[in-house]
This record gives sequence, C-alpha cells and structure tokens, in this order.
Amino acid sequence: MSLSREAIAPAVDPHILLPPSLAAGDQTLAGRRWRELFGRTGPAWPVAIEDWERAAYQALPEGARGYIFGGAGCGATRDANVDAFTRWRLVPRMMATPATRDLSVRILGRVYPTPLFLSPVGVLTIAHPDGDRASAAAAGELGVSTIVSTTASTALEVVAEQTAGAPAWFQLYWVNNRELTTSLVQRAENAGYQAIVITVDTPMLGWRVDDLANRYSPFSLGHGIGHFLSDPVFRRIAGFDVDAEPGRAGDEVMKLFVNPGLVWKDLDWLRSLTNLPILLKGVLHVDDAELALDAHLDGIIVSNHGGRQVDGSIATLDALISVRERVPSGVPVLLDGGIRRGADVVKAMALGASAVMVGRPFVYGLAVAGKVGVHEVLSNLLAETDSVLALSGHDRIAALDPDMLVPAHGR
Ligand code: FNR
Repeated sequence: MSLSREAIAPAVDPHILLPPSLAAGDQTLAGRRWRELFGRTGPAWPVAIEDWERAAYQALPEGARGYIFGGAGCGATRDANVDAFTRWRLVPRMMATPATRDLSVRILGRVYPTPLFLSPVGVLTIAHPDGDRASAAAAGELGVSTIVSTTASTALEVVAEQTAGAPAWFQLYWVNNRELTTSLVQRAENAGYQAIVITVDTPMLGWRVDDLANRYSPFSLGHGIGHFLSDPVFRRIAGFDVDAEPGRAGDEVMKLFVNPGLVWKDLDWLRSLTNLPILLKGVLHVDDAELALDAHLDGIIVSNHGGRQVDGSIATLDALISVRERVPSGVPVLLDGGIRRGADVVKAMALGASAVMVGRPFVYGLAVAGKVGVHEVLSNLLAETDSVLALSGHDRIAALDPDMLVPAHGR
C-alpha cells in the first residue's frame, strides 16, 4: 500500500495557526524553525522522526522498504545503535542559556557550518526518483555536508553540482579492479570532493534477511550505478552496451564489490593514489582505529553500517567512547549510526565525536517527499540540536565534554 501525499501531510488548516509570538525575535536556529513550523501554510509534514519513519514505511514498496529499513539478521545492531543513546542522560545547567549558539565544527583544518553529515547511502532512487540530487541539494541548503556513496544512482560529478557550495566527501567501496578504483578516486578529486571515505566493513554483503526473503537487489533493477555508467573504465571492462542493459550492468557492478582479500597493507596503495584526506568508515575496535592511523589515514568513522553487516555487533555510541580514548585528540572521529534527534547529536558530541552522520532519517524524508522531505527532516534535527544545546546551558557544539552526561539508571 502507498499513501497519498494528503494522507501523510494534510494541508494546514489556516484557522488553527497560532501567531508565532513566543519565538518572535529569536533569530537562532531553533527560534527560526519554531516560527517556520507555526507559520506554515502548505502541507503539514510530520515533525517527529518516528512519524517520518512510519510514513516512509507505508509509502515504499516491499522490496525498497526491506532494503532501507532492514538490518542484518534480526536487526539487533540496527536497533542497538538507537537504544545506546537512551543509556546516557543529559544534566542541563540552569540560568545558563546562551542567546546565540555555534553549531560549527572544525575537521582536518576546515570549518563545517553544522556537525551533521549525510551518511553515504546508495541506491537512493529506490526511495525517490530524484535520489542523490534531491538529498544533496536539501542538505547543502542547510549547511549539511553530503557523503556521496559509490553506489549513488547519479554520477558523482552531477551530485557535486547540487550541494549549494557545501563541502562534500566521496565514499569509496574498494572494488576488486584497481584501474576502476583509481578512476573513481581521480574523478572524485577532479569534481572537488574534499575527502575520501573508504568503507571497509562491506567486503561482502551482510546476511540481510529481508532482501533474501524478497529476492530484492536494487542493482539488478539498474539502481545505484550512476558512477559506473559514466565511467570509461567500467564501460570498457563491461564489454556490452551498459546504457541499453542497466540491470545487467548492475549485476556486473555487484560482482566488482566482492573483495574479501583486502588487508591493512593494501591501504598504502590507496594512500598513494590521492592527496585528499582519507577517513576509514567501519571502525568498531580500538586496534583497528590504530591500524588506520598507522596506514597514514586522516580520520576514523565509527560505524557498523547501520547494523546491516554484522548482526549482534557493538552499538556505535559504545564503540565511540573507547575509540575516542585511544585516538589522539587532533584526529577526527565521526559517529555514524542511530542518530535520530537533537539530543543524540549533543550526546555523541559530548562523548567525543568530531561530527555525526545521519543515514536512514534523511532517506525517510526522501521517500515521503523528495527534496522537501529531506529538508524538513534535517531542519528539525538541526533546530532540535540547537534547542537541546541551549537549554543544557552550552553555546558551542564543538566544545562539549562527557561531564554533561550521566549513565541512565533504569528506563
Ligand atoms: C547504507 N549504508 C552505506 N554505507 C556506505 O558506506 N556506502 C553505501 O553505499 C551505503 N548504502 C546504504 C544504503 C542504505 C539503504 C542504508 C540504510 C545504509 C550505511 C550508511 O552509510 C550508514 O552507515 C548507516 O545508515 C547509519 O545508520 P543510521 O543512521 O541509518 O542509523
């Protein structure tokens, strides 16, 4: 079943609009968003992320729904990522609300206006035909940086033009063909991407029960191959007309992804390919964080792929704490997985994250309402982050520490 737009977002009844006097004059992110929500006259999009999630669940066909919502195995790790945030509680300070707040972060010498990055999510056209273009554009307008997936449905050069000037990073799956890997990295460099994110937790697909049950592979349907269709090396090695047979091209791309022989030493080769900073995505063990730094990589992304690879593995917020302790303070450590609301952003930053990444929430927005949906979800997340930061008595997201948190007792 899919829901009509009216069912998800009925038009706002103008008679119930309240004057946004409470937040009048408040020019902060939270104040401006508060006024926008009260003052809106178009569709009444959901506000709570759970309502976006529900609407996306209902709007998507079964195969795409399973692919986006699913985790590996029973989904324990996907859910653990979210639950981990409930085990920490903020201890707000009173009479200390700053009138202005600064959400910017500094990573590898560059200032980013917000602490949010879009996690690299592939095959976005299964959620909405506007896919990567829509999400990159919505994020860019809000100062949220996009990390473009290797399995984007749109060529990386085209996505780079959508970001409204916001910095973007390129995520690399190290395909089992070095010439093609080289081509992808060089194209990313030429297109102005500012860092490479190498994802190392996916040398093969996890045991994704929903996709197996649905016999669903988006690649066989021609999604997620935008960089490959536009790549001269891929076009040559495929050996057939990839434009005429996108599903077959998708199957060829899938074969390239199986790369279980990779070892740490191979990173020397990747390091030699580019002068761009390289961050390693998929770190859960402190020793792996150290190995990444030994390989002269520039940053760590604590991630379990949204619970899509090793079911039963550690929640990323728990892994962040030990990784942050081990890694020198100048090295960026980003937290990926489970971020759903502003308090999560603040907690992750307090526990030492240099920035946070958001995956499924923006895809829910995309599935329901394309670019508008991504814009809504991210606007609320940013405003709520600003609100929690302020009401906790802090003015800089980049200057938090664990003292503002206590472990939760009970539920
Ligand atoms: C992903 N993820 C992912 N990661 C990556 O490095 N390259 C990719 O192409 C993809 N593709 C992808 C597709 C879909 C549908 C999902 C849900 C996830 C993982 C993603 O980057 C991120 O690690 C998780 O989504 C983070 O967890 P949350 O925010 O979804 O809880």
